[in-house]
Amino acid sequence: MLSKADNDRLTRVGPGTPMGELFRRFWMPALLSEEIAECDGAPRRLRLLGEDLVAFRDTKGRVGIVDAYCAHRRAGLFFGRNEDCGLRCVYHGWKFDVDGVCVDMPAEPQGMPAAGKVRIKAYRTVERNGVIWVYMGAPEHEPALPDFEWSRLPERHYTATKRLQQCNWAQAVEGGIDSSHISFLHSRTEEAAAPSNKYHASDRHPVFEVQETDYGLQIAARRHADPGSYYWRVTQFLLPFYSMIPPVGDFPESSREPYDGHAWVPIDDENTWTWSFSASPARPYSDEELAFRGGRDGFWGPVDHEYKPLLNRENDYRIDRDRQRAANFTGIQGIPNQDAAVQESMGTIVDRTRERLGASDRGVVQFRKLMLRLARELEEGRVPTCVSDGSLYNVRSASLLLPVDVPVGTGAEALLTGTAS
Ligand code: FES
Ligand SMILES: [Fe+2]
Repeated sequence: MLSKADNDRLTRVGPGTPMGELFRRFWMPALLSEEIAECDGAPRRLRLLGEDLVAFRDTKGRVGIVDAYCAHRRAGLFFGRNEDCGLRCVYHGWKFDVDGVCVDMPAEPQGMPAAGKVRIKAYRTVERNGVIWVYMGAPEHEPALPDFEWSRLPERHYTATKRLQQCNWAQAVEGGIDSSHISFLHSRTEEAAAPSNKYHASDRHPVFEVQETDYGLQIAARRHADPGSYYWRVTQFLLPFYSMIPPVGDFPESSREPYDGHAWVPIDDENTWTWSFSASPARPYSDEELAFRGGRDGFWGPVDHEYKPLLNRENDYRIDRDRQRAANFTGIQGIPNQDAAVQESMGTIVDRTRERLGASDRGVVQFRKLMLRLARELEEGRVPTCVSDGSLYNVRSASLLLPVDVPVGTGAEALLTGTAS
């Protein structure tokens, strides 16, 4: 459990909050490129870390992420005209470029403002493999871009997609790094088909080894497997809000298998973009796999045109009690919907003063301690190493069988590093 003060520090992300300031030291996934695919196309509303923004792609293909409100009298720039290298407010025609500089004031006698005199907030952006990244911190602190393997693999070797989650970012992360729920929340009932992985089904009491690293936490969960071996799942938590999902299957080790990861990007204190990434370093994905992992109707969906899941809290995730009796543990279809149902059911910001944690929550406890400590250190002027070293993000999750006497750090070492950039 946490004190109320610590729960507030962990969960609040607006400007000036300790955690909000920590997030503003990192690049963050902001949009899929497909959301503003066209030059001079429709701008898109965007809310991140409690700030209202608008995103647009200008005539030259450059991406702007700027204040949602015009500098003149605060009209919404979402309604603006995206034309000739800038976004023009439709109220009195002031126009702003991707750097937030006002480049035209047609209603004013002088027409053109003095260079740089009038500007709106504008954040730095970078586009990579179908994802637009944003940096919302001070220009003098610009960090390194995290060198995730999926963000630099060739076409057909990666996917990226997102869905809305209607709760605070931290309880979503906690679901991502909590390996013990898999044997329950995502399990199928005995009468149903064989479980997706025999090792999860055979030992529902994993033992956790959590280790702090320069990128965050390495969380290894150990289950009894064949006589004389353990089945290990190694999940990473990477600062400030990423997690990796180990490949699942009845294979002895996962080096040839595609793997997945998440980013939980705070929209505000009570809403989150749940991003899902995947990487297949060893082979290209088939068309079916690309649609399954990346499409709106695939594994991470189904979602509507605004990336809101069709199964959501307003319709109780379409829980089916017959399915719950006969087929799966929850009666809810789809692993991401099962995760969202329990995480959102805690309330938009879970009251951590009322929890009773157990041994299987070690990863969760470590995650909270780490984030609270880093937020405190930042207040004292210390910045995490991975802010300036993107190569620390070049890691893979893994699952593997190891003899009981081989430590996971040694046995899994070769599986845990992505291909060099
Ligand atoms: S409010 Fe935008 S130009 Fe007047
Ligand atoms: Fe889950």
